[in-house]
Amino acid sequence: FPPKVTHICCIGAGYVGGPTSAVMAAQCPDIRFTVADTDSARIAAWNSSNLPVYEKGLDDLVKMQRSVNLFFTTDVDSAIRQAEMILIAVNTPTKTRGVGSGKAADLRNVEMCVRRIATVAETDKVVVERSTVPCGTGQMVAGILDEFAKPGVQFHVLSNPEFMSEGSAIANLLHPDRVIIGAHGTSQWAQGLLRAVYEQWVPRDRILTMDLWSAELSKLAANAMLAQRISSINAISAVCEAAGASVKSVADGVGSDRRIGRDFLDASVGFGGSCFHKDVASLVWLSQSLNLPEVAEYWSQVLAMNSFQISRFARTVSQTVVGGLEDKRIACLGFAYKSGTGDSRNTPAAEVCRYLLDEGAHLAVYDPKVPDQHIRDRMEELGCDLSQVSVCASAEEAADGAQAVVVLTAWKQFLALDWEIVYGSMAKPAYVFDGQLMLEPETMRRLGYHFYQIGHPR
Ligand code: NAD
Ligand code: UGA
Repeated sequence: FPPKVTHICCIGAGYVGGPTSAVMAAQCPDIRFTVADTDSARIAAWNSSNLPVYEKGLDDLVKMQRSVNLFFTTDVDSAIRQAEMILIAVNTPTKTRGVGSGKAADLRNVEMCVRRIATVAETDKVVVERSTVPCGTGQMVAGILDEFAKPGVQFHVLSNPEFMSEGSAIANLLHPDRVIIGAHGTSQWAQGLLRAVYEQWVPRDRILTMDLWSAELSKLAANAMLAQRISSINAISAVCEAAGASVKSVADGVGSDRRIGRDFLDASVGFGGSCFHKDVASLVWLSQSLNLPEVAEYWSQVLAMNSFQISRFARTVSQTVVGGLEDKRIACLGFAYKSGTGDSRNTPAAEVCRYLLDEGAHLAVYDPKVPDQHIRDRMEELGCDLSQVSVCASAEEAADGAQAVVVLTAWKQFLALDWEIVYGSMAKPAYVFDGQLMLEPETMRRLGYHFYQIGHPR
């Protein structure tokens, strides 16, 4: 095996595979990176000026590295053959049928990649799990590689989970809190090989090496604990509303304890995104599979609290608007699962919209980054009647004639709206429901709005 890696292949050109490879290529000019995916439309987009992923700084990075040491291809087999190290960054969604349906991770894509690697590899390879997978997946990966390997070809399996957040991916990748590299037994020397790649830009003390199972579990545990903090503050937000306290003040009061910290204590309509729900569900399933029902129940409450928060918010809208929502125009501002991204996977906004539609509302939805078709697709997935939904080109257009404005994503531009003019254009009484703690209650009430904010007295 060569002493240094010269060619890395990343299978999966999604939110993780694309940006991580671009950053690695920029930081490691001596390594050639090939990002391979079976989705030809996605690969074509990566090779165009209209990238399939929106992240601040990504366009410039890709422009700089593409065709220098960064390549995007649908030819997965050649990419595997040429590389010494193969990163697996394919999607690992929740299973939708069979044993573990709704909880367990569907590892089909990982399995397909590993079979492909084993079948086509003609020389030894380091195979790195970058996808989020349940603890123990490394064993399945090593098993498949051994089973299908060509005679004399050896594989070394590492776990190197990714911790970037969408919207700040490039900054997270350039300055990670930590990089985790897990390995077992004979693959431990391969840890050093991957470590040397990261050491080109990550300080040594931020690179943690550990065993394979601990690395896999660190990722699930990190996401579960982040989600748990949000569910905890959201549970407190319900107490605040009932007791007349303010959740922002409570979060400041609690978060100023250095042992707790203030990050991730912003109450909201609920967490969304492609990973929190699926990874907590995967941890619940893992705990059940390990015969730890109390542990499974503990983590499942994080998800239960999130569902409660989403429906509690939507119920407040329908129960507060005088006369209910039947045939009323409701403006939904924001649809992305958080600001700074055009991603609407698992967005709480879609669930709120479904609830409001069930109550008979007509929805006018606006999001600055989510494509119109995605807004419709997400609602369709939830079985919504799209005839009552219009997607608008601006927040002002959505609010025009609406009885209520519902803020679902914390886009800064909603702060900068001229709320006085918006008030003038709305049906009266005009309501604003702030699901992201963005707006200033006193100002909004002074303008004439009936104003509700999660976790605050009315
Ligand atoms: P994604 O859906 O954006 O991209 C996955 C890509 O893999 C798709 O383009 C798909 O076509 C491709 N793919 C699937 N099977 C393939 C196969 N057999 N051969 C070739 N290509 C294949 O997913 P993502 O958001 O990039 O997430 C990837 C993994 O990283 C998941 O396990 C996720 O949990 C984890 N993760 C995601 C984030 C995030 O912010 N999105 C952060 C950390 C970790
Ligand atoms: C999250 C983690 O933060 C990343 O470390 C991890 O790598 C990633 O999941 C993953 O595994 O995919 P991401 O989903 O991109 O990243 O976004 P976050 O910023 O964590 O936000 C997730 C959700 O929580 C959003 O809906 C956001 O609005 C919500 N949130 C976040 C709150 O409601 N309150 C907060 O205080 C923080």
